[in-house]
Amino acid sequence: MSGPVRAVLIGAKGQVALSLARTLPAAGFEVTTLARPAHDLTRLDALTAAIIAARPAVVINPAAYTAVDRAEDEPDAAYAINRDAAGAIAAAAAKAEAAVIQFSTDYVFAGTQSTAYVETDVTGPIGVYGASKLAGEVAVAAANPRHVILRTAWVCSADGANFLKTMMRLAAERPEVKVVDDQVGSPTFAADLAAATVRIAQAAVGAAAVAAQFGTFHLVSQGSTTWCGFARAIMAASKARGGQGVPVHAITTAEFPTKARRPAYSKLDTGKIKRVYGIELPHWQAALETCLDDIIVK
Ligand SMILES: NC(=O)c1ccc[n+]([C@@H]2O[C@H](COP(=O)([O-])OP(=O)(O)OC[C@H]3O[C@@H](n4cnc5c(N)ncnc54)[C@H](OP(=O)(O)O)[C@@H]3O)[C@@H](O)[C@H]2O)c1
Repeated sequence: MSGPVRAVLIGAKGQVALSLARTLPAAGFEVTTLARPAHDLTRLDALTAAIIAARPAVVINPAAYTAVDRAEDEPDAAYAINRDAAGAIAAAAAKAEAAVIQFSTDYVFAGTQSTAYVETDVTGPIGVYGASKLAGEVAVAAANPRHVILRTAWVCSADGANFLKTMMRLAAERPEVKVVDDQVGSPTFAADLAAATVRIAQAAVGAAAVAAQFGTFHLVSQGSTTWCGFARAIMAASKARGGQGVPVHAITTAEFPTKARRPAYSKLDTGKIKRVYGIELPHWQAALETCLDDIIVK
């Protein structure tokens, strides 16, 4: 890139937003952050005006209603953020002649397959969160042909609330933990997502609407595990660093009922993003080690 490229980043304190806020400026982007309280995703006219006023070349939206269980009771709130705001952001980007990068989720799938999902596999969300994110994908694609939709999964980072941080807290509070062992997915780390997003943004800025760079992509760590497998790896890696680590007992989803149903299997095939962008995230176990180094230094 020659000279700074203007980017709008939606959200400030979310896991992926925080990682992007660190990564984008170092890669030569001039970033305008639009976040609460000044920019709430329920006030779409003001948000649209602010995006257009920033004259961006790319708009990156990692903000979302991410409370999977609460969404079952608050579908209107989930759809307002995950569908309506996502669509309005993509439309504002189109008006500004900017590309848009939108994050989505493995929960757009039902989880009934036993082989990794590719982008063209039939979707079938089994909860409000996944359904609202899928509706967001449709709205974004309709509003701006220069869109990159990144479906990711099981996001963790040193910041914010996530499974990794919960396990580390429980290890300090309890002699043992019980974790479901019949949901398979790929723990994915915000720092890796941010690094990949920078490369995608750099490519998207100059690309025409018909380019292969646009469309829907799966972006998760290499490898997969269950939540129980992930918890055991967290405990082992924490102990190896002198931190707490307690035994993890495998239970079934039926033994740990939650308000929202979750897909039993949501491994995503990442061949497309490797072919188009040359991007391959690290294996989740290597990324976990890196993330724990970050947390334990903190
Ligand atoms: N977390 C996961 O396990 C996971 C899995 C699959 C896909 N994803 C997707 O990946 C993306 C990033 O997720 P994440 O883990 O970074 O999410 P997160 O940590 O829960 O952060 C959500 C972000 O959305 C913002 N937000 C929510 N409601 C808002 C509103 N009304 N107005 C303005 N901002 C609002 C939050 O703002 P504040 O900082 O002001 O609270 C925060 O910046 C999302 O699209 C998510 O759907 C996440």
